[in-house]
Amino acid sequence: MTPAESAGARTRRFIVYRYDPERDDKPRMQEFELPLTGEERMLLDALMKLKALDPSLSFRRSCREGICGSDGMNINGWNGLACLTNMRTLGDTIVLKPLPGFPVIRDLIVDMTQFFRQYHSIRPYLVNDEPPPAKERLQSIEARDELNGLYECILCACCSSQCPSFWWNPDKFVGPAGLLWAYRFLADSRDEASGERLDNLADPYRLYRCRTIMNCTNVCPKGLNPARAIGKIREMMVRRAV
Ligand code: SF4
Ligand code: SF4
Ligand code: FES
Repeated sequence: MTPAESAGARTRRFIVYRYDPERDDKPRMQEFELPLTGEERMLLDALMKLKALDPSLSFRRSCREGICGSDGMNINGWNGLACLTNMRTLGDTIVLKPLPGFPVIRDLIVDMTQFFRQYHSIRPYLVNDEPPPAKERLQSIEARDELNGLYECILCACCSSQCPSFWWNPDKFVGPAGLLWAYRFLADSRDEASGERLDNLADPYRLYRCRTIMNCTNVCPKGLNPARAIGKIREMMVRRAV
């Protein structure tokens, strides 16, 4: 292996889902041979080179830091963020598809409308009708710690798009991302709407369509655990029923 090869310089084969509804009758997979120098540390770096080769290739990206959540896609069969996927973890052939279960707008860009509709349905904001204090609503250190592992969600949809229950019922099942956010506010000591929040989820589909398959937790690129949050909401449902 030459020094350049050991630094990651080699040609990789990309097989990419292509679909432009204005020009194509149906989707197709397009192959690219892309010579890389080894400077492309993350998949997003390689994708930018691919776009230079074919400017019609469409995908979303913004922050390139795992913060904006816009470059979620299916990478060799598993959802992830292109900007957080190290090229060293991928083989010589890389298959890229849009997030499964979501309508495709073009190439790797999906329609997130239903996903965000579910997110908004859980009222993703603090509800507290007490007059706000002069400075801020204080929490104990322990109460604040309860929000760790919840507030970090960047709404990339990798989890909901890997969840079979969400594929079949995206209009009825809130999905792992929305339920993680629901628990983020249920767990917040400053929020006063726990009763209404649980009422809003007490339905055969909205919460209970989760079958504990755990794809959501296994796929989250931020290392979060939506399945645990869903379990916590179920516990709250049981506790208030007794
Ligand atoms: S829980 Fe993880 S995978 Fe799901 S939307 Fe949030 S950051 Fe993305
Ligand atoms: S644990 Fe529940 S929410 Fe997560 S992937 Fe499985 S069915 Fe979907
Ligand atoms: S580009 Fe923002 S999360 Fe990847």
